Amino acid sequence: MKQFLVFYLYLAATLVSTSKVVSTWRNTNEINLKSTFGGRIIGGTQAQAGQFPYVAVVNVTTATSKIFCGGALLGDQWIVTAGQCVDQAISFTIQLGSNSLVEDDPNRQVLSTSTYVLHPGYNPETLDNDIGLIKLRMPIEFTDYIKPVYSVPVSNTPAGWNVLALGWGQINDDDGQLSHDLNWVSLATLTNEECRMTYGNQITDNMLCVDGNYNEGACVGDTGSPLVYLIKFGNALLQGVSSFVSGRGCESTDPSGYTRVFAYADWITNITGVQPR
Ligand SMILES: *[C@@H]1O[C@H](CO)[C@@H](O)[C@H](O)[C@H]1NC(C)=O
Ligand SMILES: *[C@@H]1O[C@H](CO)[C@@H](O)[C@H](O)[C@H]1NC(C)=O
Repeated sequence: MKQFLVFYLYLAATLVSTSKVVSTWRNTNEINLKSTFGGRIIGGTQAQAGQFPYVAVVNVTTATSKIFCGGALLGDQWIVTAGQCVDQAISFTIQLGSNSLVEDDPNRQVLSTSTYVLHPGYNPETLDNDIGLIKLRMPIEFTDYIKPVYSVPVSNTPAGWNVLALGWGQINDDDGQLSHDLNWVSLATLTNEECRMTYGNQITDNMLCVDGNYNEGACVGDTGSPLVYLIKFGNALLQGVSSFVSGRGCESTDPSGYTRVFAYADWITNITGVQPR
């Protein structure tokens, strides 16, 4: 019986990019928002001001659509996000310093840029190498609310680590709306073998899967948002970039999928000059 379930999961669970539903919103060129009290990613908590000073809103304009993504500030001039978020982009509006998408916030800075680097191996069909870098026009000045991640990891992310997933993505499967406020949830990293029990060979070594106690995880609108491991003094190592969820829905207990940042540490260093730590 158990084997049959696993086999069934393998067939039933397909990767869905965390921005797939957004692409159906592209027709209207508009993403609706939902106000949330104590909202969540899926099963998460609302962030405090300055708690995650590296998290960025990445609003993308392409020739045909507007896309909502998250990202993470690396050094003083780069945002790490998903390949999906920069593929065919024309311009970006980046927000740093605020957890709110809409409320007035004196700590918010809004910047526009059009410079980006998409990973040359990015595959939109398989979501392999789903990573991109956006360059700000000028180095940004750090504040209490705007600070970069500590770095990208110098060694591979192990399984069984507690990591935090951040994002403004949907808080359940039913309403296709972003959360007004940044949410976070604590998750555990899985081995890729464990993740293949759900998704089969779709999982490459460049991916990192995470799971909660129940159905916690990422959802539509979280694409590009960071998965971090907190080290001492509140510093955060960027371990993942939100990439996909299960085709059975975010509220299924299937793992959430991230791009494994460690696999791109050299590539990121070559482009940004920021050394892994
Ligand atoms: C980014 O897009 C969201 C969703 O459309 C919107 O609420 C927000 O105001 C935008 N932020 C910026 C800085 O463009
Ligand atoms: C990074 O740069 C070095 C030196 O130019 C090069 O040998 C290496 O292949 C590059 N690595 C990646 C992943 O781009």
